Amino acid sequence: MTDAGRVLVITGAGVSAESGIPTFRGEDGYWRNLDPAKLATPEAFARDPKLVWEWYRERRQCIRNAQPNAAHAAIAKLAQRAGDLLLVTQNVDDLHARAGLPKEKMVQIHGDIFLSRCSRCDWRAELCDAEERGTRNNSGLAGARPSTGPNEHEIQQTDLPYCARCHALMRPGVVWFGEQLPWDEVRRVEDYLGRGACDLVIVAGTTATFGYIIDWALRASTDGGQLIEVNPDETPVSTFATQRIHEPAAIALPRLIDQICNP
Ligand code: APR
Repeated sequence: MTDAGRVLVITGAGVSAESGIPTFRGEDGYWRNLDPAKLATPEAFARDPKLVWEWYRERRQCIRNAQPNAAHAAIAKLAQRAGDLLLVTQNVDDLHARAGLPKEKMVQIHGDIFLSRCSRCDWRAELCDAEERGTRNNSGLAGARPSTGPNEHEIQQTDLPYCARCHALMRPGVVWFGEQLPWDEVRRVEDYLGRGACDLVIVAGTTATFGYIIDWALRASTDGGQLIEVNPDETPVSTFATQRIHEPAAIALPRLIDQICNP
């Protein structure tokens, strides 16, 4: 068994597709005939926060009922074998973590669907299963972070969640189209890249729509590192890849990672 060296892995919705979670731009990404690209926006939330919360609530239920697949498991295994691995995932689900990938090796660059945050102040809260099933209230708010938990009397008993501190509307803890990336998470990626070049970069299950995804993949592999893309389709990363695997991630990644760990 060999040390896989410095490895950057970048994942997108395709990696969770085989767990039954719809991709954004795939045919099954539509919800109630609505385009996710139009729902995941500050404008949609301003227009109809209830609709947007309902979409996220259903997605959280879908994720809770899903299990990590062989692609998530293979990446967690690679993390144990690599000298210094960072996963940058655009997925807001928790399947990488549930497959055993430690939080300190993972950056959720588009946020976390199980968090909510205040639309006005910096209050954050976790969304927990029991509350979403309506056993306590409909606010969807659980123990708040980073300080003390919200006082239940401070949470307004409506079907939308309100901030325990300033009473403004809470919103899903994800990054919407047109919004800034979370600065701390960008910093973690930049720090990782700044520590040196990668031996291997794997880009799996993403359309690589965003310039920063392509930029990170190219910068990490710039010093002669391999750039392997796993995706049934072509993407903007494909032309730069040293190897392209046109297969589903749950098939390709376990095989690829076995080869890397046991050459
Ligand atoms: N294995 C690997 N790749 C797959 C699989 C699979 N089983 N199924 C689909 N794919 C590929 C598709 O070919 C596509 O390139 O996964 C990609 C999914 O693309 P998107 O739905 O666009 O998801 P993603 O690239 O993660 O989107 C990026 O955009 O909508 C925003 O914030 C949202 O994080 C999301 C971001």
